[in-house]
Amino acid sequence: MVEDLHVSYGPVQALRGVNLKVEEGSIVSIIGANGAGKTTLLNTLSGIVKAKSGSVTFRGKPLPEKACNIIRQGMAHVPEGRKIFSGFSIEENLLAGAYIVADKHLVEQRRDAMYARFPILAERTHQQAGTLSGGEQQMLAIARGLMSDPGLLLLDEPSLGLAPLVVKAVFELIREIRDQQGKTILLVEQNAKKALALCDYAYVLENGAIVLQGQGAELLSNPAIRKAYLGSDDV
Ligand SMILES: Nc1ncnc2c1ncn2[C@@H]1O[C@H](COP(=O)(O)OP(=O)(O)O)[C@@H](O)[C@H]1O
Ligand SMILES: [Mg+2]
Repeated sequence: MVEDLHVSYGPVQALRGVNLKVEEGSIVSIIGANGAGKTTLLNTLSGIVKAKSGSVTFRGKPLPEKACNIIRQGMAHVPEGRKIFSGFSIEENLLAGAYIVADKHLVEQRRDAMYARFPILAERTHQQAGTLSGGEQQMLAIARGLMSDPGLLLLDEPSLGLAPLVVKAVFELIREIRDQQGKTILLVEQNAKKALALCDYAYVLENGAIVLQGQGAELLSNPAIRKAYLGSDDV
């Protein structure tokens, strides 16, 4: 739950009073043009950026200040541009996602579960992550995010720069993570069409403010949205 969130970078007001709610078990999407403030919003939720004012509650409690405590409370962030540790192995990247988990046995269990889910990673556990394709790196970034077993997964532009078939696989994966693992997902995307088709509820962010919100299907058929974000005003 985000209430009246304001974030500035010096004189640049990136978020100007954002309110939003993410129901547990749902996929909520934020769409908006480049520079609208989408990444700033996710970075604020995961503790990378500090808010100027406003309140965020997560699982009924105020959001902790420190990023590591936010992860402990059950939120994981898969950042824009994947940000995998390219000089490290796939295995090391996965383990990094569970740095807050002290129980080694549990970490190994989760790692094995990731290898079972992503065979492409299992085949290359000791390979440098930077040698993976863009799509594989995105899968690794998501798998790393899942290693802390979050209740809420923040995904920033997971489909950016990927080929159409890979984009499709990424969106299918997001749906599976929600359907099979019961995770809640906050998805930021420039691919508005796919994001709206997938999500339960969506917010449209423009210049740091929410200008429109509604169910995904509803926004998908909204003429103004079609014109501004879907590259067509026909039905
Ligand atoms: N580290 C930063 N320092 C200064 N301005 C920034 C920084 N990061 C983002 N901004 C500005 O904040 C606004 C929102 O950016 P961002 O959250 O990255 O948008 P989006 O993810 O929607 O493209 C933009 O005007 C951008 O130039
Ligand atoms: Mg961004």
